[in-house]
Amino acid sequence: VCAKVCPFNAIVFEKGAKTPARVISASCKGCGTCSAECRFDAITMQHFTDQQMYAQIEAILSENPMDKIVTFACNWCSYAGADLAGLSRLQFPANARIIRTMCSGRVKPDFVLHAFKLGAPIVLVSGCHFADCHYIDANRWTQKRMEKLWDKLEKLGIRPDRLQLEWVSAAEGQKWAKVMKAVEEMRQKVTKEEVEQTIQILKEAEKPKKPKPVKEKKA
Ligand code: FES
Repeated sequence: VCAKVCPFNAIVFEKGAKTPARVISASCKGCGTCSAECRFDAITMQHFTDQQMYAQIEAILSENPMDKIVTFACNWCSYAGADLAGLSRLQFPANARIIRTMCSGRVKPDFVLHAFKLGAPIVLVSGCHFADCHYIDANRWTQKRMEKLWDKLEKLGIRPDRLQLEWVSAAEGQKWAKVMKAVEEMRQKVTKEEVEQTIQILKEAEKPKKPKPVKEKKA
């Protein structure tokens, strides 16, 4: 799966061979899409390890989680767009807590779920517009992953629109300000009860399922 999503064909594996997939470091550009896709947590991203990402989420939500907007922004577009909004002195809510990733493709669905589990009222994932992604089409995988996650949230009984996905370029400071205002309005509508219910749902979903009782065969 990781080989399929790599925009640079930097992961090779031999079909049928018992050896694990191999990363050609000279071809890897470090977007992190493979790591977000890997279901076995077998890929470590230098400077953006899962542990580092979880630690940032935990730090953000350690105090007054209801007031925060956990925001994942890619380095090349959205993070720069947020910067531009600040430098241009645009008015927008200041409660976004940004976690920088090289590409939005690095955002593992588990990061979003972890944030909800810790009481985040809303999560925003932001990256470059299609065709602007600095890693060819890695953000197309972001879109696919978020769509799957919206479905999962809905099935679990968690309002999917509490996860927002926005494309903001480095030149769109105005758009960043507009997105932040809209997301802040959404955050204000999320109640404490809803957040507590979400935490409960996610805890339940984590519990190992009891095996079904095996019917004894009559002799
Ligand atoms: Fe911005 Fe990929 S680099 S979404």
